[in-house]
Amino acid sequence: MRLILLGPPGAGKGTQAKSISEKLDICTISTGAMLRAAIRDNTPLGKEAQEYIDKGKLVPDETVVAIVKERLSLPDCEKGYILDGFPRTIAQAEAIDKNGIKIDKVLSLEVDDDVITERLSGRRECKECGATYHILYNPSEKGEKCDKCGGELICRKDDEPETIRNRMKVYHEETEPIKAYYETQGKVVTVKGRDKVEDTQKAVFSALGI
Ligand code: AP5
Repeated sequence: MRLILLGPPGAGKGTQAKSISEKLDICTISTGAMLRAAIRDNTPLGKEAQEYIDKGKLVPDETVVAIVKERLSLPDCEKGYILDGFPRTIAQAEAIDKNGIKIDKVLSLEVDDDVITERLSGRRECKECGATYHILYNPSEKGEKCDKCGGELICRKDDEPETIRNRMKVYHEETEPIKAYYETQGKVVTVKGRDKVEDTQKAVFSALGI
């Protein structure tokens, strides 16, 4: 399975990518997670990405396409992959086709705008391993610490209300048109995000036939 997860910020793409990846034993390539790791490691890529991410803007297409191409060349991608947060512009979707990157399905995870702010303001992320939680809907059993590694749980800097508004605007203007791009290729399946993570997971597995 070579899958794209499409959806607005906070739709639950990362949460569902984890379940699909475990079920199918394929890797997840999250451009957001890769860029945040580069910021943590203070690399030149991280320095470039930070100024865009902190404002809720998109990192330039050439930069993101280059890191995805490099990641896809690793052996663990041979049996399939999930692209989470990529492509995000029509130019990135065209780059996928131009570079011969194979895509079987595009899962569009749809959540209304008013739910997004609540989801993102309650999100917590592990400082060490990047695992994602929600204070109400998906809490860690260890409270302020990560269930998996015991790391400290923090709010993402781009989950500030003003930055969320910018990310939503960018999503509607630049990312939403990608759905129509893949509809013309007959690859889109749509799932409405539910109130509970487990209910969304069931709907996602059923839509993907897995
Ligand atoms: P990225 O990390 O990709 O952010 P995003 O797309 O905005 O998505 P999020 O990670 O915010 O949300 P998600 O849909 O994964 O939701 P989650 O599962 O966490 O990108 C960050 C930035 O990097 C971008 O703004 C951009 O600057 C840059 N970037 C990345 N890719 C790029 C690209 N291709 N091109 C250019 N720039 C790029 O869930 C959210 C919360 O809700 C969690 O707390 C979760 O526990 C909870 N939750 C999930 N599902 C449910 C449910 N069903 N019910 C209740 N709660 C739920």
